[in-house]
Amino acid sequence: MNQPIIIAIDGYSSCGKSTIAKALAKRLNYVFVDTGAMYRAVCFYILRNEIDWQHSSEQEIENTLDNITITFEYNSDSQQSDTYLNGENVEQEIRGKAVSEVVSEISQIKSIRKRMVSLQQKVGVKKGLVMDGRDIGTQVFPNAELKIFMTADPKIRAQRRFSELKLKGKQLTIEEVEENLSTRDYNDTNRKENPLRKASDAIELDNTYLNQEEQLNWALRVLHEKNLVNSHF
Ligand code: DC
Repeated sequence: MNQPIIIAIDGYSSCGKSTIAKALAKRLNYVFVDTGAMYRAVCFYILRNEIDWQHSSEQEIENTLDNITITFEYNSDSQQSDTYLNGENVEQEIRGKAVSEVVSEISQIKSIRKRMVSLQQKVGVKKGLVMDGRDIGTQVFPNAELKIFMTADPKIRAQRRFSELKLKGKQLTIEEVEENLSTRDYNDTNRKENPLRKASDAIELDNTYLNQEEQLNWALRVLHEKNLVNSHF
């Protein structure tokens, strides 16, 4: 019987990290955590409460974080897990334009990163976890048994994100989506604290031309090759 492990999935915005992470977690009966949703929820709280984050001290931001509790609850209608901020379902709000426009700036704040990383590490104590984000394999779980770094052609990423937002009824043009992705990629890669990097022991997955089933099969093959899961998965 293999011991439960930690699978860290990092990569650029809208590469499909959460999609493969969710599918893997379901297949392995593991917990899935979308760390982007945590940064988005903090960002939404800051915007909603009109907190002047650009002129706040790290201590003031830390005090603000003390008022925030983020939880996830399974939604049987969408068969996905929804994000809750202080008990309120904010899944819709955190995916909107207002949050997407500033989340990569807000997530550069040191005290926010420190708090989120510490919360994420607590979830990993029992292992049996798939976590996706930007710094999971480098900072949150540098000893994760499997690290995947995802990439995809930026045009394809923008198209996928655009279709996803359209389905959710969000009014954005493809140009706005492209612009947002490239700004976030730039911010996430160039920030001082925990920038997006491929961990030296991460395996790269370029999913430009792969569908969801092919990606899941690829990950399961890697897990078997590395002898990290039982043969029945
Ligand atoms: O995964 P996402 O696109 O929903 O993430 C939103 C933003 O949150 C992303 O632009 C950068 C930030 N983020 C981060 O800094 N570190 C993480 N581990 C996850 C997300």
